[in-house]
Amino acid sequence: MLSCTPPVIAPSLLASNLKHLEQDIKNAEKGGAEWFHCDIMDGHFVPNISFGPMLVEAANSCTNAFIDVHLMIEEPHRFIPMFADAGAQLITVHLETCTHLHQTLQMIRDHGCHTGVAINPGTSLCNLQAIAESTDLILLMTVNPGFGGQKIIDSSFDRIRSLKVLRDELKSSFQIQVDGGIHAGNVREIAAAGADIIVAGSKVFQNGNIAANVTELIDQARAGYTSTSTS
Ligand code: DX5
Ligand code: ZN
Repeated sequence: MLSCTPPVIAPSLLASNLKHLEQDIKNAEKGGAEWFHCDIMDGHFVPNISFGPMLVEAANSCTNAFIDVHLMIEEPHRFIPMFADAGAQLITVHLETCTHLHQTLQMIRDHGCHTGVAINPGTSLCNLQAIAESTDLILLMTVNPGFGGQKIIDSSFDRIRSLKVLRDELKSSFQIQVDGGIHAGNVREIAAAGADIIVAGSKVFQNGNIAANVTELIDQARAGYTSTSTS
């Protein structure tokens, strides 16, 4: 079980400026960030290459905040020890890349990390039923993975609501994370739909004041989330 207080805004380091990674992380923390998201891409599962365990190690040396690693890579089981050693506190694998998903989640736990299962926008929620009890977090991709700065896919809001219903039906306790295309204009609706952990990259790091961007997203998300919890 994850000990976070939703809604959480998790800045994606894919959008940070690596020339001053530590400063970007500190500025995001000034704005209230307590969780960072590391996007790992291999150029096979997604048409882009980003970073390896060294970015996680570097981020881990700059902050005591929670670090989740989103593996957008083929054969993720081969790399779990490296990312756990680098300081990941949660490792998310894509359902689409795991032949033995239940075993891979057990491997993540055996390496002392929380578990996450990610699904792409084209993957049905039905595929999650068999592992809902075996994961701490489910990541709903709200864009097709591979790049920051994309527009959110319109069906994402209903998918979040449907996943929340599925969680209640299964009496599961996984947290719902969403990722891609989130900004101050849609984060309230995203939180109201049921997202617990909300990843944002370009709208945190790539336009002006990082701390103010994070604070704005947190305030908007809390306004949306509160309206849900009182309904
Ligand atoms: C995309 C990544 C997302 C992305 C979010 O494959 O998984 O985390 O970096 O970036 P924005 O918020 O710019 O869409
Ligand atoms: Zn991501």
